[in-house]
Amino acid sequence: MASLPEQIGELRFRFMQELQEVSGSKDLETLKVKYLGKKGPLQSLMQELRHCLPEERPHSGKLINDLKEELVSHFEHSAARLKTQEQDRQFQKEWLDATLPGRRQFRGALHPITQVIHRIIDIFTEMGFSVRLGPDIDTDFFNFEGLNFPPDHPARDMQDTFYLSNHSILRTHTSNVQVHAMQECKPPLRIIAPGRCFRNEDISARSHVFFHQVEVLYIDKNVTFADLFATMDEFLSKLLGEKAETRFRPSYFPFVEPGLEVDVRCISCKGSGCRICKHSGWLEVFGAGMVHPNVLRKGNIDPEEYSGFAAGLGIERLTMLMRDIRDIRLFTENDIRFLEQFP
Ligand code: DAH
Repeated sequence: MASLPEQIGELRFRFMQELQEVSGSKDLETLKVKYLGKKGPLQSLMQELRHCLPEERPHSGKLINDLKEELVSHFEHSAARLKTQEQDRQFQKEWLDATLPGRRQFRGALHPITQVIHRIIDIFTEMGFSVRLGPDIDTDFFNFEGLNFPPDHPARDMQDTFYLSNHSILRTHTSNVQVHAMQECKPPLRIIAPGRCFRNEDISARSHVFFHQVEVLYIDKNVTFADLFATMDEFLSKLLGEKAETRFRPSYFPFVEPGLEVDVRCISCKGSGCRICKHSGWLEVFGAGMVHPNVLRKGNIDPEEYSGFAAGLGIERLTMLMRDIRDIRLFTENDIRFLEQFP
């Protein structure tokens, strides 16, 4: 039978060979149980100490313990090494480039036109007006005839109309809501009507086939030109600031008498003249006037008893003025680089 030192040497040799073949923590754990477990070879060597001579026992015991410590230390080192290797492998699999730019989150916003319409609604509702919506597709009666445009009236040529059929058209202005409101409600009437309008026009930096207006209508007993002037002046200074320079000048629309147009000093060129204001220094932002008696009559309102004023605001014009936008086409192009300038 081999001596104890020989057995220890052989055991160490076998262990080292098996350890070299271990490639993962699990195998290492199995090996550990095999060598250091209760039924392992070290334990059997300990048992055999019983057969030793009493004087040899301390020395032999020490040899076995030294081997045990050696194995334990090998296990510890291997366990640490394997753990690092396994982690490395895991990290390789889950590799993440922390220098990559983050995924951008886009924040939506209201369209600049919608923002201005909301502001206008706020100002007028504070003054006691309510919001009324009218149809985008309407009849000749509401868009023209009810507004005192006779069939052959030259004013119809001013607005190139999109006809959908002989009777239905895309409204050319929000003034159609005036006639609907008058027919449906009894005065006093104090409404604004925001909405889309359509005209068969050449598209340029200043005009488009598709645009927005807000119609204003106030009908009651004893409404005078002073009410029109005060209301619209107050509105403009709330919208554009006290400093905005405005001018009211006489104009003609078939549905008002007298009629007027309101201009604002061109913000783009500060009045010195540019492409936007056609070198006049002024931008027309709305038409207004006292509601024509014929229009009141078409709306079943007695002009002897009631009077009123109306106005139609061009929202694209106003927005261009307020935000210094130089081309009306930008509003419908949906270019995110343009839109994100108005958070
Ligand atoms: N409807 C006119 C247009 O589109 C604007 C307008 C002018 C509306 C005078 C009004 C008004 O209510 O009184 O050009």
